[in-house]
Amino acid sequence: MMPATTMVSRKACVARDAADPLQGLRDRFVIPDGLIYLDGNSLGPMPRAAAAVLSRTIEREWGEALIGSWNSAGWFDMPVRLGDRVGALIGASAGQTLVCDTTSINLYKAIHAAIGLKPDRGVIIAEDESFPTDLYIIEGAMKSAGRPMRRRLIGADGRSIESLLDREVAVAVLSHVNYRTGALLDIATITRQLHDAGALVIWDLCHSIGVVEIGFDLHEVDFAVGCTYKYLNGGPGAPAFIAVAKAHQAAAQQPLSGWWGHAAPFAFDRDFRPDQGIKRFLCGTQPIISLRGVDVALDVMDGVDVAALRQKSLALTELFMARVAALLPGLEIVTPAQSSLRGSQVAIEFDRGYPVVQAMIERGVIGDFRAPDIMRFGFAPLYVRFQDVWDAADILAACIRDEVWREPRFNRVLGVT
Ligand SMILES: Cc1ncc(COP(=O)(O)O)c(C=O)c1O
Repeated sequence: MMPATTMVSRKACVARDAADPLQGLRDRFVIPDGLIYLDGNSLGPMPRAAAAVLSRTIEREWGEALIGSWNSAGWFDMPVRLGDRVGALIGASAGQTLVCDTTSINLYKAIHAAIGLKPDRGVIIAEDESFPTDLYIIEGAMKSAGRPMRRRLIGADGRSIESLLDREVAVAVLSHVNYRTGALLDIATITRQLHDAGALVIWDLCHSIGVVEIGFDLHEVDFAVGCTYKYLNGGPGAPAFIAVAKAHQAAAQQPLSGWWGHAAPFAFDRDFRPDQGIKRFLCGTQPIISLRGVDVALDVMDGVDVAALRQKSLALTELFMARVAALLPGLEIVTPAQSSLRGSQVAIEFDRGYPVVQAMIERGVIGDFRAPDIMRFGFAPLYVRFQDVWDAADILAACIRDEVWREPRFNRVLGVT
């Protein structure tokens, strides 16, 4: 692939788009004319087929076939069937992944299962910079663990995972890609380090699924969780996923022992007896219409090679960083320049970031802002073009040059930033 830094003009970017083997994928999404969408790391756009498929689900499956659709339309098996499709994207062979619940809930289940597998150990490692829900869920899981548990944070209690690892550590909960900075961790090395210390790992893949190769089986990952509404484009609030290595499934107990996790839900037994496989990680009835949104979004990914997406994603982020550095040399890009350390977003630290992002939105470039001072731009290789990158950097530079923060309307803080 042509290095991004050789794209020295908008014309070169347009030519690069024309030669892009992934270019046709953009047509599979509804993207309003003239809009540059750099927020697929928060909410992916709507797949073009979604409206028809969802109306069919509502009108025919729900409206006409009614309750029979649990069997005839495959509703009941959706968490497992979609789980296997998501599993393929993270390198997990069949029978290890479910699409269900939210990332937060799935994380709760995974933490309990992991600490249950390590009954003699009382420490959970996480990151000072974890997405807050991960820290909050760890707090909750520690309280309900039934034994004393302690937390050690990378970045607060020690600089690196090595400095925090000892024989007390039961599990580490780590984000593959940091939601603020876009920094990428090395799953292979860190998973091995944890296993060597006798600990387990739970990877939060929210910001890497669909854009980074993961190697769940290859690296013998124990547990993974993540969402489907970002780079997988499953729709607002789409159900999340959980993956549990086959090797742990028979012994792993999750605390939300609902009837969908029972070995025979329709036997209506009085006592809980978990399913023998991944289904023990289900709890209750799942949102079928939302699952159908994930189904249609996964159709878009059929036949698409994650390695090709990763290659394009790196070229897009590299180009954006190069353009920002050229146009705005004083601005601090906090995302790592080294490609092996970078996910699919670029984060820029700027104390006036919020009004700048608002002004960019008004000028047709949607990114987002994470307090206190991070402007985030996500580059989804399924639909973002090189010409979009070029134009977005120009618009960012113009907003800063125009000192848009002087405009009161860009400083009005909305509920979701
Ligand atoms: C890294 C990370 N983990 C967890 C979550 C929370 O997901 P949910 O709201 O589905 O529980 C998010 C949401 O953006 C996230 O970015």
